[in-house]
This record gives sequence, C-alpha cells and structure tokens, in this order.
Amino acid sequence: MGQKDIVILGIESSCDDTSASVLQNNRVLANITASQKVHESYGGVVPELASRAHQQNIVPVVHEALKKAGISMQEIDAIAFTRGPGLMGSLVVGCSFAKALALATNLPLIDVNHMHAHILAHFIDEGIPVPKFPFICLTVSGGHTQLVQVDAPLEMKILGSTIDDAAGEAFDKIAKILGLPYPGGPLVDKLAQTGNPLAFQFAEPKVDGYNFSFSGLKTSVLYRIQKEVKLNPNFISENLADLCASVQHTILKILFNQLKRVSSDTGIREIAIAGGVSANSGLRNQLMETGKQLNWNVFIPKFEYCTDNAAMIAMAGKFLFDKGIFADQTVSAQARKEFNRS
Ligand code: KG4
Ligand code: ZN
Repeated sequence: MGQKDIVILGIESSCDDTSASVLQNNRVLANITASQKVHESYGGVVPELASRAHQQNIVPVVHEALKKAGISMQEIDAIAFTRGPGLMGSLVVGCSFAKALALATNLPLIDVNHMHAHILAHFIDEGIPVPKFPFICLTVSGGHTQLVQVDAPLEMKILGSTIDDAAGEAFDKIAKILGLPYPGGPLVDKLAQTGNPLAFQFAEPKVDGYNFSFSGLKTSVLYRIQKEVKLNPNFISENLADLCASVQHTILKILFNQLKRVSSDTGIREIAIAGGVSANSGLRNQLMETGKQLNWNVFIPKFEYCTDNAAMIAMAGKFLFDKGIFADQTVSAQARKEFNRS
C-alpha cells in the first residue's frame, strides 16, 4: 500500500505579499499571491498599510487557493504559516488567521521560519533535479542576505550574513536614489539589461569572514549622483541604464566573491540561490556561468518561488509535518528573532 498523500495549506504574510498555497506532498496544487501596490509611491513598504492590506486579502486569497486546488478544508492535513522573521504587524495577521483556522478545523498548526522556507522552495516538485546535501544556499531577499550551509532539510547553519543592508534593500534604496518606484530591484534588473556594467565604478566593501555589506555602495552611489546632478540636472535620465547596470554589477560582484570563497573553503559544489533577489536575471546568468567555470551543480528556483510565496511555506511545513514538529495555540509571531529551525 502506498503512503497516504499529505496536503498542507501554507500561509505567508511576512512583508507585503499575502499568499496561500495548497501542497500535496511536494507538488503545488495552487499558489495564490496578492501583491500590495499601495507601497509603490512611498519608496518602501509602509508597515501599517501592509498589515491592513493583509487583513483584507487573507480570506479571499485562502479561498482562492483552495478553490484552484479543488481541495476542501476536510482534505487538509495541517496548516503551515510564517512565524517570522518579517514585519510584526504583517506576521500577526497570518499567525492569528492560521491559529483561528486550526482551532476551528481541529487541524495541526506548523510554524515556519520564512528564511528556511526560501531555501526549502528548492524541494517543490518541478520535475527537475533538487540539490543534494550538503549544499550552500545564497539567500538574498529584501530583508536578509545569508550564506547558508544546508546539511538536511531541517539542519542549516548560517556561515555569513549582511552586517547592514540586505542585497534586495540595496537594490531598492539605490533605485529610490535613481527616482524609481518601489520595489526597485526588478526595475534595476530590466534597465541593467541595456546598460554598460563597467560605465561607473562604485565602492566595494571589506568585511570579515563570509559576511556582506551594502550600505557603503549605497552611499557611494548617492555621493556620485549628487556630484553629477549639480553639473548636469539630466545626469540620471541620460545615464539610467548604465547606472543600473553598474550598480547591479557591483552587487553581484560582492555576492559572488563570498559565494566562491565559501564553496572553495568548504569544498561544497552544490550551489543554490533563493529569495527575491534570486529572480534577478544577472544573478541567474552569472550563477550558470560561474557554475560551468568552477564545476558547480547550480540550482535556481522557478521564478514564482523566488519572491515571497506560500508554496515555500507549505513545503517547509511538509518537512516539519514529516518529523512531527507542530506548534500549539500559544505560538506568536516573531519579527526578528532567528528561531533555530524551519
Ligand atoms: O524574498 P522577497 O520577495 O521578500 C523578502 O523576504 O524580503 O524579496 C524582495 C526583494 C526586494 O528587495 C526586491 O527588490 C527584490 O527582492 N527583487 C529583485 C528582483 N525581483 C525582486 N532584485 C533584483 N532583481 C530582481 N529581478
Ligand atoms: Zn522573503
């Protein structure tokens, strides 16, 4: 007799995407995300507006995911939700909703670490090879930049992380300096494709170990722009593509320097990327090229599982379900604290 199918409902609300997903074993039956446009004109996520939008979106998004999957609540085996890290007001909406739904349906509840889930998105069944353990994952999102050694689905250690801004934050803040709307990362990516990556030189950091720093780059771009705009008020518009290409080139250089060092020091050549910035076309291309040069096996998530989504939360939930690790009704959201498991 085959093993029983396990169906997990995943809920993600850590930042500005409200998402629900239904996962059957490792296969996504539905993954519905409502992105919040309200932040665009503010140049960043406004926490109070984000949590209000989550409140409006969460019920329809969960309904839609169940409908698309053709699954009723009676067929769900557990409810997995993002406990943290993220914005407190946003996390509280998903956490409270998941707890209430678990109480009403008498289903087990699973609390998931958002950063672990970004990495475990690699195990969503897409019919392509998945990383073998141990592997290194460069996790690059709006809030985090980490080099993680993954020894097993629930055994991860952070080898390095950013000491100031995250890579996504660097993209977004520099985009704001260039007058682009939030989130700037995808726009910089698009504009960079027609620019010269060597047109401008910006500061590169010196940091200890496998850590990262991006705030010096941001300041270096700001000072250069201020200086140039005094001489030519149209400097940004006349050089936008070259500026974007040069900024992206510098961010990627910073990321790859450390990634190569970690791989060479640990001898691990299974290399994955995860998180919102792993949607960046330059990063994806450079990983494939570097992989060929250095004989790495590289793993690049499907586009829709790079940025925040509930499928990855359900996937992490499935690994915890298999190990019998559940939360109870006393669980609360954790904005910052790294709790030491998925
Ligand atoms: O993982 P994510 O969706 O949310 C967090 O957990 O933070 O990452 C969002 C970040 C934003 O900073 C956004 O600008 C960046 O990912 N991002 C990109 C691209 N797509 C999203 N950065 C560069 N190039 C992209 N194509
Ligand atoms: Zn994320």
